[in-house]
Amino acid sequence: MEEFVKIVEVSPRDGLQNEKEMIPTAVKIDFINQLSNTGLSVIEATSFVSPKWIPQLADHLEVYTKINKNPAVQYPVLIFNNQGLENAIQVGVKDIAVFTTPSEAFCRRNANCTVEESLQRIQTLATTALENRIRVRGYISCVLGCPFEGEISVDKVCDVADKLIDLGCDEISLGDTIGVGTPGTVEILLKTMQKNISREKIAVHFHDTYGQALANIYAALQNGIRIIDSSVAGIGGCPYAKGATGNVATEDVLYLLNGLKFRTDVDLDKVISSGRFISNYLQRENRSKVSLALMGKNND
Ligand code: HMG
Ligand code: MG
Repeated sequence: MEEFVKIVEVSPRDGLQNEKEMIPTAVKIDFINQLSNTGLSVIEATSFVSPKWIPQLADHLEVYTKINKNPAVQYPVLIFNNQGLENAIQVGVKDIAVFTTPSEAFCRRNANCTVEESLQRIQTLATTALENRIRVRGYISCVLGCPFEGEISVDKVCDVADKLIDLGCDEISLGDTIGVGTPGTVEILLKTMQKNISREKIAVHFHDTYGQALANIYAALQNGIRIIDSSVAGIGGCPYAKGATGNVATEDVLYLLNGLKFRTDVDLDKVISSGRFISNYLQRENRSKVSLALMGKNND
């Protein structure tokens, strides 16, 4: 039996949040609807966040309510505060993701609070979410390095992860926000974290700034991880973290997983087609090596 790996598609949120030119809401909806027909089981749809902080996702309510929701797909949204959660509850959101980080400097830049305050916010958010039968995923950013503080200690990351589990998160996504990790550091982090948290609850979220993402994913797979965040065409980046370039491309992750004989239930061709759709719209070079290679083949 092939082992299953869950892909968490983050392109509609992480992929688009950093785009300067406003993307029409209809394009985002079309994009998510295409992704919904690829076999992906989780698509992070948007962020119920302050439009002052993330102008590109100011249309989050409209996007969330107008996408065609495939019953086989979860559509988590990123939430930072009560205002976002109240809006999410009103439109029937069933899954949220929350944010923290062990880096005081990044926490201040990205969420305008201390790490302790971010955990207090999560406590409030998670309590309300769970009362409303909303599932909570916890992001931890800068797990392998911070653009402001440099190295981040593994113990600090694991301590934050333990707290998120205690607060009710059922999945922890480890964000290498600026893509500085390498397989060795990934392995140390995952081995240490798994002393307290079972591997089924741990996801990895790699940005590919230094071209290490696929190698890091391989290291994560070797260490038992079976949940991978990725973004079609490798789009992505965080406006509050210099160096947070694209996420690892979903197409490339699928190619790797297919080669390793993991089962994903995701149709690579359909993912390639949605990656091309969004790259064409953004007039951006597609960062998926697999998509580019297949495009070359198709042109022969
Ligand atoms: P603040 O300025 O302290 O908050 O920021 P505030 O409560 O004073 O609100 C500021 C204004 O925003 C107010 O409007 C609020 O009403 C409004 P004003 O009174 O000035 O007219 N506002 C909202 N409006 C609509 N919906 C809301 C909402 N909240 C506030 N939900 C705050 C604190 C948390 C709001 C801010 O820091 C923030 O929004 N940060 C979000 C930053 C962000 O989204 N970053 C990118 C995502 S994280 C990421 O990409 C990393 C990840 O991918 C993992 C990885 O790669 O490592 C997840
Ligand atoms: Mg990210």
